[in-house]
Amino acid sequence: MTLLTWNHACTVGVRALDDQHGILMDAMNELRLAVAHGSGREQLSQLLDQFIEFSRMHFASEERLMEQTGFGGLHEHRAKHQCLLAQVLQSAHRLQHGEGVEMTPLLDYLRNWYVEHISGTDQQYGPWLNKHGIS
Ligand SMILES: [Fe+2]
Ligand SMILES: [Fe+2]
Repeated sequence: MTLLTWNHACTVGVRALDDQHGILMDAMNELRLAVAHGSGREQLSQLLDQFIEFSRMHFASEERLMEQTGFGGLHEHRAKHQCLLAQVLQSAHRLQHGEGVEMTPLLDYLRNWYVEHISGTDQQYGPWLNKHGIS
């Protein structure tokens, strides 16, 4: 199992958001370790819920800053956040209700989504926010 590590391509240049991305990666790694150690459904459910809760807070922070500065790509960006949340909430719901969830594909999906999102989509607002005095 590989854990996620920070690299330069992940930096967006806004301190608070970079910190949040770091926390999201830590939360994802915690979930990966829990799966690798064979943790029970209840614990996995709790960790996944925490991860979702933090993702929500993070997405709201980004969207607020994009909105405040009139960033043109806000709607498209928000749609991507909503799409991820809808997918993950479905798995969290299944887990809560004792239904089977394949954790490894879910973790792979999350990892790929976040790496692509942070090193691609999130990069688009960095220079814009910096230009508007947010760093
Ligand atoms: Fe982000
Ligand atoms: Fe984002």
